Amino acid sequence: MLRTHTCGELNINNIDENIKLSGWIQKSRDLGGMTFIDLRDRYGITQLVFNMETDSELCKKARKLGREFVISVSGKVKERSNKNRKIPTGEIEIIVEKLNILNKSKIPPFTIEDKTDGGEELRMKYRYLDLRRNPVRKNLELRHKMALEVRKYLDSQKFIEIETPVLIKSTPEGARDFVVPSRMNSGEFYALPQSPQTFKQLLMIGGYDRYYQIVKCFRDEDLRADRQPEFTQIDCEMAFVEQNDVLNTFEKMVKHLFKVVKNIEIDKLPRISYHTAMKFYGSDKPDIRFDMKFVELNDVAQQKGFKVFDDAELVVGIKASECADYSRKQLDKLTDFVRKPQVGANGLVYVKFNLDGTFKSSVDKFFNEEDLKKWTEKFDAKPGDLLLILAGEKEKTQKALSELRLEMGNRLDLRDPNKFCPLWVTDFPLLEWNEESGRFHAMHHPFTSPKKEDIDMLETEPENVRANAYDVVINGVEIGGGSIRIHDRELQKEMFTALGFTEEEAQEQFGFLMNAFEYGAPPHGGIALGFDRLVALFGGSDSIRDYIAFPKNNAGRDVMIDSPSTISAEQLKELKLKVTE
Ligand code: AMO
Repeated sequence: MLRTHTCGELNINNIDENIKLSGWIQKSRDLGGMTFIDLRDRYGITQLVFNMETDSELCKKARKLGREFVISVSGKVKERSNKNRKIPTGEIEIIVEKLNILNKSKIPPFTIEDKTDGGEELRMKYRYLDLRRNPVRKNLELRHKMALEVRKYLDSQKFIEIETPVLIKSTPEGARDFVVPSRMNSGEFYALPQSPQTFKQLLMIGGYDRYYQIVKCFRDEDLRADRQPEFTQIDCEMAFVEQNDVLNTFEKMVKHLFKVVKNIEIDKLPRISYHTAMKFYGSDKPDIRFDMKFVELNDVAQQKGFKVFDDAELVVGIKASECADYSRKQLDKLTDFVRKPQVGANGLVYVKFNLDGTFKSSVDKFFNEEDLKKWTEKFDAKPGDLLLILAGEKEKTQKALSELRLEMGNRLDLRDPNKFCPLWVTDFPLLEWNEESGRFHAMHHPFTSPKKEDIDMLETEPENVRANAYDVVINGVEIGGGSIRIHDRELQKEMFTALGFTEEEAQEQFGFLMNAFEYGAPPHGGIALGFDRLVALFGGSDSIRDYIAFPKNNAGRDVMIDSPSTISAEQLKELKLKVTE
């Protein structure tokens, strides 16, 4: 045995015990007569003492040890005279009798401390050293705990975990596929799953009426703080259910996680339709930690001679309470913000409802006191409030105002990271028009069922068909999405037609699923939660990378193993592949 205890467990109750510890050297202090070493492992830090007087050879050997050397020591636990109350082992130290160097270490390229001097790229290159740091360890422990609690909850609800294949078939759904050439079937490719969607549906047809899997998914898409090319889903499917059953089951799971992991009681999740979310928040993933709902002004702000408003499809604003004292400079900054290309508005109109009851606006030329009073009434504004208004094409304006709303939420400290406000967004449109391809795309995926009452519109006005689809959103982050599926061959065929597939294309790509529907497919539905996003949210970070042991950088590279990389001419030949520029 290289250790009898870990570096985090010895305390005053172990005084005079003979013990053995192993770990890494966090730091060492040489005080002439005495050398102190902080020994670290996953569980904590324990102070080791080497005494020149009692054993000079041993002490000299200890002085030569560098940071991150791996050692094993035997010795006796003693009470410390100089106690450190901040750590659990701070009342004791080990008087070392034997020292064994298990491995040396080069000087690490950055300090292995909570606040390190290493930049992100460097820490990614030496991720195994970064993993030794407390903040990273705590994140991975949180991830483990949450995975465990997910399994416990789903197991208690009779879900069983079933693995689905990773080498599957490329389908033109959602993002781009990562593909893998097949040596044995030259010229042919597997694709890595963007999600196990079709397999979980086939499991329902196979009779496994409650399935889940904590599973890697792969999507070749542009990366952001909350997107990785490979990420993990809590993927679930249930048979013999309606939408309400799925929502209730996973609402309970979300509540369970908040309770057991963060000791937070969550109220019933509000359920709002996509339409309502867009109307009041301009987003299908609203942050409802704060109110600041949109108010539409078309009826009171148009036909008064202000061309920008008159020409607009939508005139809409938000109320920033108690912000009427914003300076010119502050308002200019907000105008610059909405004009950023990512936000996309042309300009910003403001109305200050002054404390003395008067109004000051950026459109005083066009609107009198009476007009502005009407606006403030619509907002239920009080003296001291500020109205911020955008106008233009509907969707673009909603999106821009949504960004401004979040920005104001940040500025006014309304987005408390310790407050959690989950909700369901339901009734998504089934299809959305894609300018690039000039056809409709499925908003969730092609297996999502249309609402019964809307099916007739599938041919005539496809854009107005609503889906039995839902997202779970927490604090403005899309945590998960799912739907009740189509389980009927004819309807699935109709759906593929609406998506612009020919019958042959549909059969070629999804024939296996449509054929399976003919052998007694039960009604079914499910959901997938983005596990990395969920953990990052619980941990209080926007970046999912911090919660993945070996993440990719923004360019999709693993800088530690240096991947992706070229392959040898021999491998290419064997795969019958040619690399062209
Ligand atoms: P969807 O595509 O909405 O649904 O994915 C489910 C959830 O996975 C997370 N997610 C990601 N997380 C990190 N990096 C990414 N690149 C990434 N892409 C998605 C999000 C998202 O809400 N098969 C359906 C689910 C179903 O219908 O049951 C699906 O994959 O949190």
